Amino acid sequence: MRYLLASVVLVLSNLWLHGVSGSKTPPGFVTTSGTKFELDGKPFAFVGANSYWLPLLTSKEDVRATFREMQASGVKVLRTWGFNAINGSELAGALETGLTYYQVWNSSEWVLNDGPQGLERLDFVIQTAAEHDIKVILAFTNNWVGYGGSELYVNWIAGAGNTHDVFYSDRRIVTSYQRYVKTIVDRYKNSPTIFAWELVNEARCLGDLPNGPNCVPGTELISKWYKEQSDFVRSLDPLHLITTGGEGQFFWRNATGALANDNNFNGAAGEDFDLDLTLENIDFGTYHLYPQSWYANLDFPGSNFSAKQWGLDWISLHAESRVGKPVILEEFGLLGLDNKTVVYPEWVGHALNTHTAIMPWQFGMLGLKEHGGNHLFKYADALINGASPNDGLAIYENQTEVWNIFKHAAQVQASRSG
Ligand SMILES: *[C@@H]1O[C@H](CO)[C@@H](O)[C@H](O)[C@H]1NC(C)=O
Ligand SMILES: *[C@@H]1O[C@H](CO)[C@@H](O)[C@H](O)[C@H]1NC(C)=O
Ligand SMILES: *[C@@H]1O[C@H](CO)[C@@H](O)[C@H](O)[C@H]1NC(C)=O
Ligand SMILES: *[C@@H]1O[C@H](CO)[C@@H](O)[C@H](O)[C@H]1NC(C)=O
Ligand SMILES: *[C@@H]1O[C@H](CO)[C@@H](O)[C@H](O)[C@H]1NC(C)=O
Ligand SMILES: *[C@@H]1O[C@H](CO)[C@@H](O)[C@H](O)[C@H]1NC(C)=O
Repeated sequence: MRYLLASVVLVLSNLWLHGVSGSKTPPGFVTTSGTKFELDGKPFAFVGANSYWLPLLTSKEDVRATFREMQASGVKVLRTWGFNAINGSELAGALETGLTYYQVWNSSEWVLNDGPQGLERLDFVIQTAAEHDIKVILAFTNNWVGYGGSELYVNWIAGAGNTHDVFYSDRRIVTSYQRYVKTIVDRYKNSPTIFAWELVNEARCLGDLPNGPNCVPGTELISKWYKEQSDFVRSLDPLHLITTGGEGQFFWRNATGALANDNNFNGAAGEDFDLDLTLENIDFGTYHLYPQSWYANLDFPGSNFSAKQWGLDWISLHAESRVGKPVILEEFGLLGLDNKTVVYPEWVGHALNTHTAIMPWQFGMLGLKEHGGNHLFKYADALINGASPNDGLAIYENQTEVWNIFKHAAQVQASRSG
């Protein structure tokens, strides 16, 4: 943990020199200036990588190899999960297979695992990121059931039969979530390797559980939750950036006040991108882009509604809506190698033209060696012949044409950075 100690000294000496109120950001911390990110006072434009599976690796050499590959391809920011929660009933299996876990739920309060199969794995990922000049975005929980997330808070605290949205409204759940947030923030708050904290991956009114009547357009339940949680994180950590982790849905009424019939625009998903970005402690916006899973009617013969065009419009809308703060296209993907090859250059080109940082979903790695290169983590997520998990969206180096789109974009971004 040497890097932590070094940065503690930096932070302390900085506070001493500048005083708390006028404190300047210490070296290596990412900041914003208008719609741009900055690092040490210079522009910081980047291509990032999504990899939720990095902290699940059991081999340190595989972690190092993945970061070497990211660095060689020009990746400057990694986004990964700062959560990994299991049910008590999964514990015996986890101990047998070596599954990474940070929280165990077997009552209305989770128990922390900060040991070698727990947060020490995340420590190693963050430390190795630093050694490869890569910053890390950490999400505190998941809207979805994957790797724990909000449904465990709902099931264990509010109890079976509740809707997903009580995650945002039940005070006992908020307290429990904040206890976890504080654990993670306190652990890394002095590290310049943290790019930003992310409140939850893809907040929606519904999760794997359905939504209830308190989370509908107009209740602003998620916006209020974003405000409370971002203020809470800021009270713990004055320096790091904070963001939502949202998909970027809008809540737009047309001229007559009626709602558009599309849950990317009518607030029914739960977010209000414009309002959320105005919150004092939301430092930048995020949005995701998955037209194939969001719309059934794309690209049919004769249709004027293509995945490619929808994505270009979505990128424009978020660039236009950023009201003086940066935004990141922090997840996007299309199934099919041909789709990727044809559409990604257009999306990526448009994102870069509008000065939007990009983080494709998801980074693919070949040649991983642990367990002989074949290892099931959880669900259907597995290493197969040394390849990292593939949900159809992973981009591996052997997909040369697609890989090079991002490598080239990273060079463009580097040329715009200080
Ligand atoms: C966790 O365990 C509880 C109680 O055994 C169960 O009701 C719940 O469905 C489980 N949740 C998940 C996400 O596995
Ligand atoms: C979870 O709680 C149940 C019931 O109290 C108990 O039988 C079981 O051993 C506990 N499991 C763990 C992993 O603590
Ligand atoms: C605007 O509202 C009207 C009346 O409800 C509706 O018919 C129309 O589709 C809406 N337009 C858009 C763009 O949502
Ligand atoms: C598709 O065509 C319809 C009807 O002509 C038009 O209203 C709509 O804006 C078009 N959509 C796109 C994405 O071009
Ligand atoms: C490519 O995208 C289209 C829709 O945009 C989809 O119908 C098709 O199945 C995709 N190709 C593959 C191989 O997934
Ligand atoms: C790249 O590697 C993956 C994972 O091993 C494999 O499934 C795929 O067929 C390879 N693709 C090419 C183009 O060689």
